[in-house]
Amino acid sequence: MKNIGIVFVCLFQTMACTQPLDKRERPIGGSCEACDLMFEGIPSTLSWETSLTDPSEPGEPMIISGVIFKEDGKTPAPDIILYLYQTDNKGLYSKAAGQTQAVRHGHIRGWVKSNAQGEYQFKTIRPASYPNSNSPQHIHPIIYEPGKGYYWIDEYQFEDDPLLTSAARQQVSDRGGSGIIKLNKTNGTWQGKRDIILGLNVHNQ
Ligand SMILES: [Fe+2]
Repeated sequence: MKNIGIVFVCLFQTMACTQPLDKRERPIGGSCEACDLMFEGIPSTLSWETSLTDPSEPGEPMIISGVIFKEDGKTPAPDIILYLYQTDNKGLYSKAAGQTQAVRHGHIRGWVKSNAQGEYQFKTIRPASYPNSNSPQHIHPIIYEPGKGYYWIDEYQFEDDPLLTSAARQQVSDRGGSGIIKLNKTNGTWQGKRDIILGLNVHNQ
């Protein structure tokens, strides 16, 4: 029905019909709580690299990069949108001054679109775990395959996080491949790599 709505908009608009990058596909692979917030504020053009934070953001700088592969796990997948959101260095999904979109996801959020080699990279700060909790530090990723749909994949988590216990490791489902990454600190910046395999362990597509 959404597509029909878009057709009507296109028919009745006098300006050229451009389809905005918002909610034109459905969530796939089961429930995806509040995942549609990824479309709030999404820029019309995206790069393979971005920064989720301003330089003034408190916290330890971190850069994460990787390659998004097609379902065969070998062929790079270009033009895949990866949305990310995370807590700040106090473990909160804090709202920016004046933020009205995707408030539930906090202000540290952003998008990348894989390049021709399937590569992506984002800068951010290392998230803190929720206050007074046993939840490991994490970054939430959502994959959007244009023309197909969007779905969550395993959170980014960090090998050296003391809260990432063996019990916590057993709770992951390797959706999109493992999200547990090894971080190295170079010149004060955490760096890590995570590759993603589209659709891996994403059932009921
Ligand atoms: Fe979270």
